[in-house]
Amino acid sequence: MAFIKWPFQKYNKKDKENHEALSVIPKHVAIIMDGNGRWANKRNLPRFAGHKEGMDNVKRIVKAANAHQIEVLTLYAFSTENWKRPRKEIEYILKLPKEFLKTYLPELIEQNVRIQTIGHFDQLPDYTKEAVGDAIEQTKANTGLILNIALNYGSRAEMVDVVKSIAKEAQTKDFNIDDVNEQFINNYLYTSQLPEPDLLIRTSGEQRLSNFLLWQLAYTEFWFTDIHWPAFTESEFEEALMAYQARKRRYGGLS
Ligand code: IPE
Ligand code: IPE
Ligand code: MG
Repeated sequence: MAFIKWPFQKYNKKDKENHEALSVIPKHVAIIMDGNGRWANKRNLPRFAGHKEGMDNVKRIVKAANAHQIEVLTLYAFSTENWKRPRKEIEYILKLPKEFLKTYLPELIEQNVRIQTIGHFDQLPDYTKEAVGDAIEQTKANTGLILNIALNYGSRAEMVDVVKSIAKEAQTKDFNIDDVNEQFINNYLYTSQLPEPDLLIRTSGEQRLSNFLLWQLAYTEFWFTDIHWPAFTESEFEEALMAYQARKRRYGGLS
């Protein structure tokens, strides 16, 4: 496989060699956007400032993902464990989607982006639900990049939901236990309609999953950087895409 330098600014659909390179673009990129607080700390700013800057960075990375024809971008924005933080910080984070969408939704619509979420949406405050719900509704017919926001998401909570749904189905007469297989379980995941992530990026130096997509990441390629999320630019994003390009995915087989 040819190693193609990113970005494909000169990409031309008729160009066969470049077209081949498109086959190694990850379809689905998932990002654990970590390090907002440390970014702010380093600059003697309050943690809030890091979250604000982190939100602005989402715009840049969505644009870059779109430019590289990635199909799904899943962003970990708020975990089921983030409720442990001080109330004021939680409120600030959960108000960000409203602020983000107020100024940015028209541009997202213009870019043909479709917004979705995974996580326990119902438990979010009204101001978050209204803004995000409206954006989901307004972009539901769009056919470009799926911007999938993990909001109040926890992988274990997702698995509990899966087991509960299957248990409920098991109470019906026509349930056959032998029908339960990996695909069956997959159909109950929040991500059932999405391809599995090809590439996982985590910023800010931590090398752990923090309860993110445990089932879905079984064969995903991981890429870590010490850079804090607000400082993570298009060029680091492209570096991750290049690293992905050089990986040999074997899925347990032989290459
Ligand atoms: C990521 O940045 C944003 C959320 C978890 C909501 P952090 O707030 O975790 O920043 P650090 O890890 O404390 O630097
Ligand atoms: C993971 O980051 C969650 C999000 C980025 C939304 P955390 O900062 O919450 O993770 P830990 O606590 O360092 O594992
Ligand atoms: Mg963190």
